[in-house]
Amino acid sequence: MVMDADRNDLEDVRDVASQFDERASHYDDSQMHRELAAQVAGFVHLDGVGRALDVATGTGLVLRALPDSTERGLVGVDVSAGMLDVAKRETPSAEFVLVGPEPPLPFADGSFDLITCATGLHLMPSPLAALQDWRRLLTPDGRIVVATFSTAARNPGHGRHPNRLSLIGTPEAMSDLAAPAGLRAVRTELWTYAEPFDVCLLIELAAVA
Ligand SMILES: C[S@@+](CC[C@H](N)C(=O)[O-])C[C@H]1O[C@@H](n2cnc3c(N)ncnc32)[C@H](O)[C@@H]1O
Repeated sequence: MVMDADRNDLEDVRDVASQFDERASHYDDSQMHRELAAQVAGFVHLDGVGRALDVATGTGLVLRALPDSTERGLVGVDVSAGMLDVAKRETPSAEFVLVGPEPPLPFADGSFDLITCATGLHLMPSPLAALQDWRRLLTPDGRIVVATFSTAARNPGHGRHPNRLSLIGTPEAMSDLAAPAGLRAVRTELWTYAEPFDVCLLIELAAVA
């Protein structure tokens, strides 16, 4: 049962966790996800970032790709215990927390200077509720960087999961979704992998003053 227009079915979200548990042991074989993590790490601005949170961290590819990662307080959260087991093994310096699919995440307001989320937002029960919670977790000058499959992506695999790519898969759609969460788009970039298979949108969001 889909609960309303911008929500994914909660049963399907539970399926997502078990699907990623099954993928965990071979997830890092995905060249696309490794290269996207590197792209995200190159896109983020790290000046002044003390604590960073990677939501839907999976095996922690984005955290692993960040430069000088051992000098920051890095935290990753995910619904899949199997993915987090790999993340903990590969990045012992970071903290990893198993979370439920819905907000709020178990952190205090203003805890993070940077929040990243790569190819995870479209899997969440409500992308808007997730953005609202991330806004709560940001320090005043903090930034959110979302990488998501673009609506221009042609990978049929994206259809396997309940998703809301149409809500977030273009710069305009992402800006419209972020506005009620008190967030505005600062920078965007399109990244193409094996055109026209996967096209990803990278977008940096800041709190509206
Ligand atoms: C395609 S993987 C991306 C992993 C990682 N961000 C990367 O770039 O390699 C999607 C991840 O989102 C996680 N996920 C799905 N729904 C979630 C939710 N509601 N909250 C947190 N994580 C979620 C899955 O368990 C999976 O690890």
